[in-house]
Amino acid sequence: MRRRADTISLAQGMVNWGPPAAVHEAVRTALIAEPSLASLNRYGPMEGDPELLEAVREELEGHHRLDLDGSALLVTAGSNMAFHAIAQVILDPGDEVILPVPWYFNHVMAIQIAGGVPVPVDAGLVPDPEALAAAITPRTRAIVTVSPANPSGVVVPGSILAAINHLCADRGLFHISDEAYAAFIHGQVPHQPPGTLPGSAAHTITLHSLSKAYGMAGWRIGYAAVPRQLLAGLAQVQDTVLICPPRLTQRAALAALTAGSAWTVPRIATLAERRQLLVDRIEAAQSSGLAITLPTIPDGAFYVLLACETSLGADALMEQLILDHGVATLPGEAFGLVPHQGRSMLRLSYGMLEPPQLGEALDRLILGLQQLAA
Ligand SMILES: Cc1ncc(COP(=O)(O)O)c(C=O)c1O
Repeated sequence: MRRRADTISLAQGMVNWGPPAAVHEAVRTALIAEPSLASLNRYGPMEGDPELLEAVREELEGHHRLDLDGSALLVTAGSNMAFHAIAQVILDPGDEVILPVPWYFNHVMAIQIAGGVPVPVDAGLVPDPEALAAAITPRTRAIVTVSPANPSGVVVPGSILAAINHLCADRGLFHISDEAYAAFIHGQVPHQPPGTLPGSAAHTITLHSLSKAYGMAGWRIGYAAVPRQLLAGLAQVQDTVLICPPRLTQRAALAALTAGSAWTVPRIATLAERRQLLVDRIEAAQSSGLAITLPTIPDGAFYVLLACETSLGADALMEQLILDHGVATLPGEAFGLVPHQGRSMLRLSYGMLEPPQLGEALDRLILGLQQLAA
């Protein structure tokens, strides 16, 4: 992909804040207060250090109300690593995993690396459990949901997640629930994870990340609640890949979780203004005759899908917007959204840009789309 130096990015899936001061403090303390650094220099427990696991348990049980009876907890180098490890453990070559479209592209890759077959299902932005049920075959091992969703920003209602979870239980499948954006709720639909359902621990995998809410994407730390029967297999993957999660980073993660929602909520609240700015600009452009639509007004994460009437595929559209207009987006194709009847999808992220720059990016985007349409 060719680049342009002054490009503003609506593409990056990150927030523009860094971690709580307590994280830096914890790292400083760990380095200064333990001159021998023994507990940092040596391998630690495969599943994570007990203090962090305790904080993770409190977060999942206390804050999110998960039923962890039958679950094991695992700290990983980010949520992507947990998904990869799980794919390695639950899939034999040729086994299938159902991914409602739009999917998160790293899930596709992890399934393929494990020799599995990603099965895209066009079940709607709020996935219809019956459409997912119709895609189950004897080779299906799991159904994945992502809520709040990347790339649509949809928050899937708890009743739908519960129906999918029950479907998984009935059909002997795992429900992999990616909750990287759990803290990013902007509308009326609450985050009601499937792991809250009584008895769900035996077949539900809940994935969390510190990358987003705590602005710790580069620190590479996340955690998972997994059915206990998977732990032996996961221990093999973890032992082979990480041996143990990096111990200094675990100290940082503990400090972040201790800062908790009292720290994340006001920061995430700043996204409401950006989301509104984005929706207002798109609606104004629509009123002025530009053939674009928002398939949904997002209620979660920090993403919006934009449907553009164009003869270009989204890949080509994205390239034109970068080179001629200096604004980067991601193409719908990356999420399994193929251009359809002259409509291509772009994903816009409003996590990184504060209002003045976000406004500038949107001006460029709209001008670009107007010129391409002309
Ligand atoms: C749905 C989803 N899951 C997981 C991740 C990655 O999380 P981590 O940085 O913890 O690996 C992302 C990052 O964009 C994501 O969008």
